[in-house]
Amino acid sequence: MLQDRQGRSFPYLRLSITDVCNFQCSYCLPDGYQGKPDAAFLSVAEIRRLVAAFAALGMWKIRITGGEPSVRRDLPEIIATIATTPGIERVAMTTNGWHLPQFVERWKKAGLNALNVSVDSLDPRQFHAITGQDRLREVLAGIDKALDIGIEKVKVNAVLLRDLNDRQLDAFLAWIKDKPISLRFIELMQTGDNLAYFKAHHLRAEHVIEQLKEKGWQELPRMPGAGPAREFSHDSSLGRIGIIAPYSKDFCTTCNRLRVTSTGDLRLCLFGDAGASLRDLLQEDEQQSALQARIVEQLGFKKDHHFLHDGNPGATRHLASCGG
Ligand code: GTP
Ligand code: 5AD
Ligand code: SF4
Repeated sequence: MLQDRQGRSFPYLRLSITDVCNFQCSYCLPDGYQGKPDAAFLSVAEIRRLVAAFAALGMWKIRITGGEPSVRRDLPEIIATIATTPGIERVAMTTNGWHLPQFVERWKKAGLNALNVSVDSLDPRQFHAITGQDRLREVLAGIDKALDIGIEKVKVNAVLLRDLNDRQLDAFLAWIKDKPISLRFIELMQTGDNLAYFKAHHLRAEHVIEQLKEKGWQELPRMPGAGPAREFSHDSSLGRIGIIAPYSKDFCTTCNRLRVTSTGDLRLCLFGDAGASLRDLLQEDEQQSALQARIVEQLGFKKDHHFLHDGNPGATRHLASCGG
C-alpha cells in the first residue's frame, strides 16, 4: 500500500474524467467556466494504464469525479475498464444526478457500486437558484432509482450556505428518515474563484452539529479507514448524517486519498500545489514501472495539511477542475 512520510496510507484515488459540467453551482462556478474541449481529457486507454499502476501500488478504490462525469459518452466503458482492473474492489462516482434516472442501471451493469449525489436544497426554487438548473425532481427520482436497483452505497452531499439553504435541516431530516443513505453537510470551501461568495455564505459546520445534538442525534465512533465525514445517527432515522468540515483542526491527519485531474496531473492535495503530470507515462503498456516509480516519488512531496487554514486555496480555482 502507498504510504507517505506522515504514515498516511492511500487506498483511494479520486479520478476526474472531465472538467465540463452541465450545472453551474453558484459556489463552484460563479464565473461560468465552460470546461476544456473533450479531446483534452484522458482517453479510456490512458485511464486503463493509470488505474493499473495505482492498483499495482495497492489502491483498491477509485472514485470517478468531474466536472460532471456523465457528460462523457464513454462513461460506461470507463466504469467497466476500472471495474475489471485486477485489485480494484470499489468503483464509486460523484455526480450531480441529472442523468441518474436514464443511465444508473447501465452504470451499475458496467461495475459501479457506490454513488455520491449533490442535493443542496429540497426546495425546487432554491435548488434551481443554487445549481442553475431546474432539475430537483429528476435528481431525487434518480436517487430513488439507484436505491431500488441496489447500488450498495448511496451518499448525498449538501454544501452549507449561509442565507441560502440554512433553513433546510428539518426538510432533509424528514427526507432521509426512511432511506438508507448518508446525507453529508459540507462546509463551503474557499477556492480561487469564489472568494466573495465564500465570505458571504460560509457557515461553520458547528451550526448544524449543535442542532443535530439538540434533536437527539448521536455521533458514531470513527471507523478505521473512514473518509472525511464525522457520522451521526438517530434511533428513529434509517438515514445518517455526515459532516465534512475541512476547516477543523485535524481534518488532514486521516487523509487517505490522492487525485488525478482530467488531463492526467497528480494532485497530492485538493488545496495544494498543481502537481506533476503523469500523462507522458500513460502512452504505452510498457511504461508501467516508470509510471509507478513517478507516483511513489511524487508522494514524497505530499504536505501534512492543506493550505486552506491560511486562506490559500492553492492551485484550485474551483472544484470542477479537480473533482472535489
Ligand atoms: P467517500 O469517502 O469516497 O464517500 O468520499 P467523499 O465523501 O470525500 O466524496 P465526495 O466526492 O462526495 O466529496 C464530498 C466533499 O468532500 C466534497 O466537497 C469534497 O471536495 C470534499 N472532500 C473530499 N476529499 C477531501 C479532501 O481530501 N480535502 C478536502 N478539503 N475536502 C475533501
Ligand atoms: N465547497 C464545498 N463543496 C463544494 N463542492 C463543489 N465546490 C465546493 C466548494 N467550494 C461539492 C459539490 C459536490 C462535491 C464533490 O463537492 O457540491 O457535492
Ligand atoms: Fe458542476 Fe459539481 Fe461544480 Fe456543481 S459542484 S457546478 S455539479 S462540478
